[in-house]
Amino acid sequence: VPRAKIAPSMLSSDFSNLASEAKFIEECGADWLHMDVMDGHFVPNLTIGAPVIKSLRKHTKMYMDCHLMVTNPMDYVDEFVKAGASGFTFHVEVAKDNWQELIHKIKAGGMRAGVALRPGTPVEEVFPLVESQEPVDMVLVMTVEPGFGGQSFMPETMPKVNALRRKFPLLDIEVDGGLAPATIKQAAEAGANCIVAGSAVFGAKDPAEVIATLRQGVDA
Ligand code: DX5
Ligand code: ZN
Repeated sequence: VPRAKIAPSMLSSDFSNLASEAKFIEECGADWLHMDVMDGHFVPNLTIGAPVIKSLRKHTKMYMDCHLMVTNPMDYVDEFVKAGASGFTFHVEVAKDNWQELIHKIKAGGMRAGVALRPGTPVEEVFPLVESQEPVDMVLVMTVEPGFGGQSFMPETMPKVNALRRKFPLLDIEVDGGLAPATIKQAAEAGANCIVAGSAVFGAKDPAEVIATLRQGVDA
């Protein structure tokens, strides 16, 4: 199993101080910054887009793991490349016809490509994207309904992580939603190695301790 990547979700940070929040969370031991992009259409919430990624890029060299909860991911690839995004994860539910072209465009732009699935989407739908000639680098299994931070982890999504890990031993498998010291064990045992955590990290008295605990849950 690949090593842990701990990716605090900036959705739970103070958006008015993004640069200092990113610096703080890097000092706390985070590997990636998870950036939740929502369009008010694929999910009932609006957050940030490429202009914010671009502004933050001037203040940090960290890997920006962008999670696109949008209906038309293809429309945003170019501006995310220009903005300095590191990873671009789109949802399989809105890429049934153009995932090959999407992956190609993302990688040609120098980003890593990821595919995400909602809790109700069968895991088989992403297999072709992992087995393709030009495959995704990561699969993101949503462990809550996308749209908002602070929701409860859905253990019923773990069989999907398990199925992916059995089939693809070296794949980066990310989980997102309700991850915390109380739920990391289940996710790690199922085979997840990239861990997104928003409220559990930014809401903690000691975020560095939470990050270390999540890492140990995967790597130990
Ligand atoms: C939800 C987002 C998550 C969210 C996670 O739609 O994709 O990244 O910020 O937040 P927590 O860890 O609080 O569930
Ligand atoms: Zn996310």
